[in-house]
Amino acid sequence: MISEAENELLTRVGRKTPMGKFMRQFWIPACLSSELEADGPQMRLMLLGEKLIAFRDTAGRVGIMDHLCPHRLASLFLGRNEDHGIRCAYHGWKFDVDGNCLDQPNLPDKNKYPAGVKAKAYKTTERGGMVFVYMGERAEAPPFPEIEAAITTNPDDRNIALTHRECNWLQALEGDIDTSHLGFLHAGCVDPSKMDPNDAATYTVLNKAPQIHVSEMPFGTMYSASRAAMEGHEHHRFACFIFPFWVCYPSDRLERNLSANAWVPINDEHTMIFNIDLQRASGKFKSMRYADGSPVPGLARPLEYLPRTNDWMGRWRPVKNKSNDHGLDRGMQRRGESYTGIVGIPLQDQAIQETMDPIIDRTQEHLASSDRMVMLTRRALLKAVRDYQETGRLPAVLDEPALCRQARGGDVISAAGTDWLDAYEDAMTAAHGPARGVAAE
Ligand code: FES
Ligand SMILES: [Fe+2]
Repeated sequence: MISEAENELLTRVGRKTPMGKFMRQFWIPACLSSELEADGPQMRLMLLGEKLIAFRDTAGRVGIMDHLCPHRLASLFLGRNEDHGIRCAYHGWKFDVDGNCLDQPNLPDKNKYPAGVKAKAYKTTERGGMVFVYMGERAEAPPFPEIEAAITTNPDDRNIALTHRECNWLQALEGDIDTSHLGFLHAGCVDPSKMDPNDAATYTVLNKAPQIHVSEMPFGTMYSASRAAMEGHEHHRFACFIFPFWVCYPSDRLERNLSANAWVPINDEHTMIFNIDLQRASGKFKSMRYADGSPVPGLARPLEYLPRTNDWMGRWRPVKNKSNDHGLDRGMQRRGESYTGIVGIPLQDQAIQETMDPIIDRTQEHLASSDRMVMLTRRALLKAVRDYQETGRLPAVLDEPALCRQARGGDVISAAGTDWLDAYEDAMTAAHGPARGVAAE
């Protein structure tokens, strides 16, 4: 349990809040590269409670800036994206992607270009089909985080799924490191007798009360949910949290699992999930299947999205959402076709997080040993935010991005009695060997 003040510290991300200041020191996923077209329409984009516009200029460079024009604060959303800059529709002032004022056509010549007029623009970069933004105050942005799923060659964005979730970022993230829900929320109706005994997923279905191990790591925190596997072996399901909001989650065997979620605050009560899963396009990603190859019912259904709108909250909203109880079907629930009556793993998670309060009151929880990873990660975040507040010190992973390469999620089978951290290290050594078949940019 944490105090009310700690809950506030962890969850509020506005510009003046401690967590907001902390998060702004890191590169933040902003949108897909494909959402912005050269000289195409600019887009409303809210990040960490800031109202921004995003656009791509004639040369293909991405601009992300305060949506208010610095002249008389008209919204640049109404402006014109033309000829290497965005021009305000009110009096025609024009700004490049760095915020420099290029033109003030409503002024007599002698008054043009007064020093110091600049739009508030943030640094951006693009990697693997995504646009990232740096909203901190360093003159030189920090190095790019070397999260394997984000830096591995990814020719387009087909492996990335964005989803708007109606709740606080930490609550959404905590759903990702709350491993013991797997056997209930997602797999509560799975029949273990039909599972392939060689499929690692089988162990997670057979044993719904795993041993949870946790450890602080140079990049953040890590857990293993450990269960007995075939004779003389143990099954570990690993996942890692990387500061400030990344989770490398388990969706396959660790050595071939390149996946990560970024839980990016839109504001205090809305989150954009950036789900990168490099297995998805190659067909290796699989939902749980029975031994005969048939899909386990109730799990595999990709999200369908509502048509996008220009609203601050108008992108990547699922068709099934809070307003329609996420498509809850009590008949399916009764017939054992889905534990919740909701179909699809992402939507089941979505439903759980969104039907809590938008920011849960963590003083009211009753955490148990199954929640060790949630507890440790909160403590690590609280410590990191307080350190930054008091001393200006930031987690090492910010300026040593290679530390991110030590983080992966995935399934590992080890000999019984092997220390869980040794099992992780052995699996990572195997994963990073010459046979792993991925090329980093
Ligand atoms: S308010 Fe934008 S040019 Fe005047
Ligand atoms: Fe889940």
